[in-house]
Amino acid sequence: MKGPPHGVAVLDLEPAASDFLEQAIAGFSASPRTLPSKFFYDERGSDLFQEICELPEYYVTRTETEILRQHGTEIAESIGENAELVGFGTGAGVKTRLLLDHLQNLIAYVPVDISKQRLTESAEALSREMPNLEILPVCADYLQPFELPTPSREPAHIAVYFPGSTIGNMEPPVARHFLERVARLCGHSGGLIIGVDLQKSKEVLEAAYNDSAGVTAAFNLNMLDRANRELEADFDLSQWRHRAVYNDQAHRIEMHLVSGQAQTVHLGEYAFDFAAGEKIITEFSYKHTIEGFSALAASAGFQLARVWTDPRKLFAVFHFITL
Ligand code: AVJ
Repeated sequence: MKGPPHGVAVLDLEPAASDFLEQAIAGFSASPRTLPSKFFYDERGSDLFQEICELPEYYVTRTETEILRQHGTEIAESIGENAELVGFGTGAGVKTRLLLDHLQNLIAYVPVDISKQRLTESAEALSREMPNLEILPVCADYLQPFELPTPSREPAHIAVYFPGSTIGNMEPPVARHFLERVARLCGHSGGLIIGVDLQKSKEVLEAAYNDSAGVTAAFNLNMLDRANRELEADFDLSQWRHRAVYNDQAHRIEMHLVSGQAQTVHLGEYAFDFAAGEKIITEFSYKHTIEGFSALAASAGFQLARVWTDPRKLFAVFHFITL
């Protein structure tokens, strides 16, 4: 077969473009007001998130990577040989390599990502580094049902890899539905390797989401800047401030944008009045316990195989299996 060197064909399932305007209007019509966290990640937001991952206070990424570095061999052994690995939003980054490098007789790697550009670039980079690996990228929204491609060799089982504690953005009933869908996708004797942020002191959590360099504040405020750029909105950024609080009843970090004064904001032809001190909730980041998350996964049909954590028990990487 001819083609560009290391070209990888992307299976484009054409994920529906999510409608920022429609969801912003719905979120501003609710009480309290909300904007969905998935809209953080435009180009600027993705760059700021990369910066967050390197902040001294933001232990999340560093700790998960450390667990994968320490236990990559055991995690790969627990998954077993002849697997098809399906990565949700994984790409070709360090966390993916730490798993791929240890898997024995990997049948295929199926990275799934909503961004076709990110998917193509990372699949091509990975194929240069691992030329013998069958890579079958799928452009799809992994939060919606989708079908897997068929590798050229038959896998013994399918394992889904979902690092980054992205599941933390889901309220528990939503997380449960999502996990049920993952269980169905990976079928009998399937597996799920998932990174989950753990409950810890309010001080450590609030510091991680209120960093002293102000990067998380810029990340949060970028959502309003994005609305100005894309939705004909007129947010005055000097009249909004970032706040992150740990809600210890609900076990979640809440990211807020707080209105500095009474003000009216337009979204195209719509107008919304905000009171002084009124908040827009932009993100929930749930923190779990090992027992609590295992029970949540069990309610979705997963049995705990193994769990790895760091010495301070800040973060956990779980391996669940279906029967
Ligand atoms: C990407 C959802 C795991 O909840 O910690 C980081 C996003 N928000 N700082 C998280 C985030 C503010 C992050 N997740």
